[in-house]
Amino acid sequence: MSGKQSVTVIGLGPMGQAMVQAFLDKGHPVTVWNRTPSRADALVARGAVLAGSVEEALAANELVILSLTDYDAMYTVLEPAAHALSGRVLVNLSSDTPEKTRAGAKWVAGHGGVQLSGGVTVPPSGIGKPESSTFYSGPRGPFETHRPTLEALTGTDYRGEDPGLAALFYQIGMVMFWTSMLSYWQAVALADANGLTAADILPHATETMATMPNFLSFYAARIDAGEHGGDVDRLAMGMASVEHVLHTNADAGVDTALPAAVADLFRRGMEAGHATDSFSSLVELLKKPKN
Ligand SMILES: NC(=O)c1ccc[n+]([C@@H]2O[C@H](COP(=O)([O-])OP(=O)(O)OC[C@H]3O[C@@H](n4cnc5c(N)ncnc54)[C@H](OP(=O)(O)O)[C@@H]3O)[C@@H](O)[C@H]2O)c1
Repeated sequence: MSGKQSVTVIGLGPMGQAMVQAFLDKGHPVTVWNRTPSRADALVARGAVLAGSVEEALAANELVILSLTDYDAMYTVLEPAAHALSGRVLVNLSSDTPEKTRAGAKWVAGHGGVQLSGGVTVPPSGIGKPESSTFYSGPRGPFETHRPTLEALTGTDYRGEDPGLAALFYQIGMVMFWTSMLSYWQAVALADANGLTAADILPHATETMATMPNFLSFYAARIDAGEHGGDVDRLAMGMASVEHVLHTNADAGVDTALPAAVADLFRRGMEAGHATDSFSSLVELLKKPKN
């Protein structure tokens, strides 16, 4: 006996598999279940136990990790065995919206279990590394009880009791990730149209991204204070620049959907009277309307 808490992992996509490997590496006995059982083969060879049914997987351990595509998959998998959720702490590390995670927590509680929600901020290669991080939210007591075991996966960042908070923080990161990566694909397409490779522009692209944290910290305090004074960063100046970006892309013959959307937002800011304000005034345009 390893003395380490035994866990169940349901869902063996790339993420679930990495999680099982990390638990096994740290000496935790692991029971697994997956819709496609063959995905458990390598894990069973390393000592994981393949449950014969979802019910058996739930019965095996108090702590159950879920790593499925989304919350809809949770209902598909668990609904037929929902009675076995009683007394279980279900750590749902599947990504979804805050609303779906809140509804999931209610559903699990309705069957006598506790749900902790999670948002994993690293790819499978980051699992098993303490410097990686996962957002958690849900009832604090069960989280603290199981935190040492969850830390076999990544560092833990507990955001509060509201089950939607982990998903919210996760989605805040993802909105930045996807749009930032799209900006990079746009830059690569523009470079390509001009005979340059991704490798050719890598140093410049990297330097450009590396300046971003300075902008974020400069603007955070000003935005929270409602300050959008346009001393050095007037929206009108930005408007001229994003038009240049749009035309540079159009002249090169690359897709302009992204730069056109950016120019459209700047234009809306101008029309709303922010020409001489900081371009951070666009935040006011994006916010939920107050009525
Ligand atoms: N991969 C990443 O880089 C990454 C990073 C951060 C967060 N995440 C999140 O972690 C979660 C898992 O990631 P992943 O990459 O392993 O995702 P994935 O490949 O989508 O995981 C699929 C898992 O869900 C199961 N599944 C999906 N729909 C199902 C259904 N209707 N019924 C039964 N089982 C179903 C699959 O079973 P089968 O094997 O039978 O198909 C498989 O076990 C996702 O929510 C993802 O957003 C992933």
